[in-house]
Amino acid sequence: MNKFKFTIALAMIMMLFACKNMKVNTEALLDRKVDSVFALMNIDEKIGQLTLYTSDYDVTGPTIRASYKEDVKSGRVGAIFNAVGTKYTRELQKLAVENSRLHIPLIFGYDVIHGYKTIFPIPLGESASWDLEAIENSARIAALEASASGLHWTFAPMVDIARDPRWGRIAEGAGEDTYLGSLIAAARVKGFQGQDFSGTSSVLACAKHYAAYGAALAGRDYNTVDMSERTLREVYLPPFHAACNAGAATFMTSFNEIAGVPSTANKQLLTDILRGEWGFKGFVVTDYTSINEMVQHGNCANEKEAGELAINAGVDMDMQGAVYNNYLKKSIEENKVNIEQVNAAVKRILRMKFMLGLFADPYKFCDEEREKKVVFAKENLDYAREVAKKSIVLLKNSKSVLPLSKNIKSLALIGPLANNKSELIGNWSGQGDWHNAVSLLDGVKQKVSAETKLLYAKGCNINDDSTNFAEALKVAQNADVIVLALGEGAWMSGEASSRSNINLPGVQNELYKEILKLGKPLVVVLMNGRPLTIQHIANTADAILETWFAGTRAGDAIADVLFGDYNPSGKLTATFPRSVGQIPLYYNAKNTGRPFDEKNKYTSKYLDIQNTPLYPFGFGLSYTTFSYSDVKVNKDSISMTDTLQISVTVKNTGKIAGEEVVQLYVRDLVGSVTRPVKELKGFKKLMLQSGESKEIVFKLTSNDLAFYTLDMTFKAEKGDFKVFVGTNSVDVKEAKFKIY
Ligand code: GLC
Repeated sequence: MNKFKFTIALAMIMMLFACKNMKVNTEALLDRKVDSVFALMNIDEKIGQLTLYTSDYDVTGPTIRASYKEDVKSGRVGAIFNAVGTKYTRELQKLAVENSRLHIPLIFGYDVIHGYKTIFPIPLGESASWDLEAIENSARIAALEASASGLHWTFAPMVDIARDPRWGRIAEGAGEDTYLGSLIAAARVKGFQGQDFSGTSSVLACAKHYAAYGAALAGRDYNTVDMSERTLREVYLPPFHAACNAGAATFMTSFNEIAGVPSTANKQLLTDILRGEWGFKGFVVTDYTSINEMVQHGNCANEKEAGELAINAGVDMDMQGAVYNNYLKKSIEENKVNIEQVNAAVKRILRMKFMLGLFADPYKFCDEEREKKVVFAKENLDYAREVAKKSIVLLKNSKSVLPLSKNIKSLALIGPLANNKSELIGNWSGQGDWHNAVSLLDGVKQKVSAETKLLYAKGCNINDDSTNFAEALKVAQNADVIVLALGEGAWMSGEASSRSNINLPGVQNELYKEILKLGKPLVVVLMNGRPLTIQHIANTADAILETWFAGTRAGDAIADVLFGDYNPSGKLTATFPRSVGQIPLYYNAKNTGRPFDEKNKYTSKYLDIQNTPLYPFGFGLSYTTFSYSDVKVNKDSISMTDTLQISVTVKNTGKIAGEEVVQLYVRDLVGSVTRPVKELKGFKKLMLQSGESKEIVFKLTSNDLAFYTLDMTFKAEKGDFKVFVGTNSVDVKEAKFKIY
């Protein structure tokens, strides 16, 4: 190596050492700052930092504490949620900083779930885009708007795997699959937290609800969860692990118990796994009064005991319960709680406040000029339209009735959601203002020509039996094509919003049947927060678009798809069952010892319905078509350290360009424990021009095939495997390989 190169190499090594050293120094400096404040604190002030209260600006739970401002002034609260806006957060921050003895700043949290004021599709909808970059960018914009509004912390991403669409909170997550859910969890954490916390455009993420909240029995919110540790670790924990690895600053405990232990008192979850196995360094907050609710669970006799269980399990911050504030001091005096546990929790929270720069400038996020410029900016709204388009799933398009022509002679837009805005921003829509939303009727008006006769009728309400079918029929009779906008109210999914049936509510099915009788081209646009049972519509409509609650720009985005300005590319991330009786129904199920066989009575089936879903996981059509070559593997067998390459050539066999999500699934045919019949292990979303082909290559190693074996060690096992590639979890081509 010549002298010059040597010098460069040496300089690089020294710089790398310096950077590493600098990181260590930054950490050490942060610790020193925390210790400097911590050393001054008395026990009341310490417990105050472990306390989070809601302001009375917004309500997201069963209790409100009227005295929260007094608590702020006395230093008996470390964080406030549901207070938004630079003005109001500045006012509350001043109360804390100017009145409390140590002037410790507050952090402000809020549920920025799918946008702050510019609202994006509900997360279940966004996940159907399978576009990790779009999902990260959407969270980034949400963080820009939230941080510009005085907020430091969002209670998102919700990363609960959900296999039961009766559960209303399926709307808030990424559906049923662990692999996709883990990637989306990481993308959303990165979006919310950005590069670092040195500026004012990032907010602390909060991975919630830890853990297994989506497995509530019977899909009833807050209900009991009971599962094997293997299922917990293989299905429900990985998205949380991914969020932790992505640097999530905080975690939130879930309301539910798992196998008799409420998550808010689950030391294995909160300390052994989260901190011990995963190395989590942030802080853990409870969900809304979930410490208090352990008395109802019945694993403790009173709130004081609940607080002792929570702090000893690893809960740092008590959301709205005031349990720590009321009892922790006494518990410490009685040696029921080790003061070191409290000290560690306090330091984690102080550390976040230093990281956010709030000690240096408690008002750094309270810039009213920035708030005016950033919140609801045009570029944010335009991006919300882009994400909404990507989230829409084409479920049916027989006779290619879609896309519609913009010069269509007459079009009837009918249904309770056709000219609606208030539902389109969905549940958990933060500071979104539905008055600013674009209705479907607005969106369609922007598309059709001046000559088009555009007719509208509501036909019925969303969820009651009042009808005006006559008006709807009259309008429909005067149109060449009918678009029916049907679905749920935003309030019918989200928290405390489980449904015992997942049909279209009210008399919407009756409206549909009346309109169907006219025998005209019929397009159904669904707006909903969960998979719905729509068998009759699936059998008889000409086209069906699943649009979820698509956010502020819903009407524009749906119209973009209806009229072909965007070729739909979404794929379902939650199975659509044929009947609520099939639930839970998900693609990565076990084979059982008696898998369904139509020739054999004694196999796993129902007498009254087939086992298959109406629409499977990964399903979604396009206005073009794609063909798949046979699947090829570069080796018939691999060792535990080899890499397998799986290739397929996908061709756009249609007349227009379109995006396809090519999906890779694997089946481990024999394991020391039973294995799912399919597991998603990769996907690629790509644009193909008409006639264009592209070879897609996936890579797998034994690490991708690891699972919790019979003795609960996490590893791959030798043996036979199948690999599947296709356009959804059912329509696939397969190949075989071995691990030796
Ligand atoms: C609610 C929700 C949780 C939310 C929290 C704060 O009860 O369960 O998702 O972040 O309270 O609003």
